[in-house]
Amino acid sequence: MEKDTFISDSVVYVGVDDKTIDLFESQYEVPLGISYNSYVILDDKIAVMDTVDKRATDEWLANVEKALDGKKPDYLIVSHMEPDHAANIAMFAEKYPDMKIVVNNKTTGMIAQFFDTDLSARYVTVKEGESLELGSHKLTFYMMPMVHWPEVMAAYEESEKILFSADAFGKFGALDEYDEEGWTCEARRYYFNIVGKYGAQVQAVLKKLGTLDIKTICPLHGPILKEDLGYYIGLYDTWSKYEPEDDGIFVAYGSIHGNTADAAKKMAEILKAKGYKKVAIADLAREDLHECVEDAFRYGRLIVASATYDAGLFPIVETFVHHLIAKNYQNRKVGFIENGTWAPMAAKKLKEAFSGMKNITVAETVVSIRSVMKDSDIEAMEKLADEMM
Ligand code: FEO
Repeated sequence: MEKDTFISDSVVYVGVDDKTIDLFESQYEVPLGISYNSYVILDDKIAVMDTVDKRATDEWLANVEKALDGKKPDYLIVSHMEPDHAANIAMFAEKYPDMKIVVNNKTTGMIAQFFDTDLSARYVTVKEGESLELGSHKLTFYMMPMVHWPEVMAAYEESEKILFSADAFGKFGALDEYDEEGWTCEARRYYFNIVGKYGAQVQAVLKKLGTLDIKTICPLHGPILKEDLGYYIGLYDTWSKYEPEDDGIFVAYGSIHGNTADAAKKMAEILKAKGYKKVAIADLAREDLHECVEDAFRYGRLIVASATYDAGLFPIVETFVHHLIAKNYQNRKVGFIENGTWAPMAAKKLKEAFSGMKNITVAETVVSIRSVMKDSDIEAMEKLADEMM
């Protein structure tokens, strides 16, 4: 897909694609890379909207200088201090010594922590609802605490109705890579794994920004959104309310020698035979764990199948459940399949783990396999499938 980064004559995309990073934030697989977005607003005063990761400094600087065409920036707007956006603040400030740095009162301490240079004399500190005039363009700032750091702020440009949304509405994937799944899958994986814990804060931001007339969303990662904005905002509303997005069920399993896997696959077959519209199944050890977290949130029902290991859960299942707890998994129906050769314990551990989550309904039927699934286990699986309906 060709990069669609044209915003307007005055607002220029100067971000960079990173297609060589092994793991974004040292944990997320990004087979299509990631983009570090940055923008320049050209008016009587010139504003640069965020910097980029230090992996992309040279290319970003070249893009910015091309957009500036010999002029100097008046402001660097710092909407987020995470190093994938803020790594070049000190370098850029040194390069343009007359440039002001637009921050809020939570940003300033972080700048001092990340950079051993005192930039405080150059701060323009903005508060909720305050504006910065650039000429015919005007930026109004809205605080977005915990979406997904405390200092994050959005900027709304009134004349072109552009929302600079920081991490919100971001997506994995470089801009010049074609994503055959469109926006939603990788935006969902990004959302639940990176922002997912902070649903209440996202809800607050959606309510606050809901009054604005937005024509374009410029996030810090992923494509610039120009059409059908109600679709993206609607998904963010569903996700941040922890409501299931799709009618389906997800079977997630961790299996040592393949016997728990056989049971999980049989379970999926039974669910399909009973008419479940969508049955997703994943081997937690072999599929992208963060995609599994995404699927757990995507559907309203989840069956976890785990081998018993050291009198507890199979480690990858434990990790999966840990991620669900960390991301505030809630409002779902869950069922368990355990396997054990001498003392099955996985279901007990799963029940304990899920009991601390909000509004989780646990199916009464537990399928307890001894070593290998047998015909005699099918009845319990049928019962669990009926209960999960
Ligand atoms: Fe893309 Fe929270 O940084």
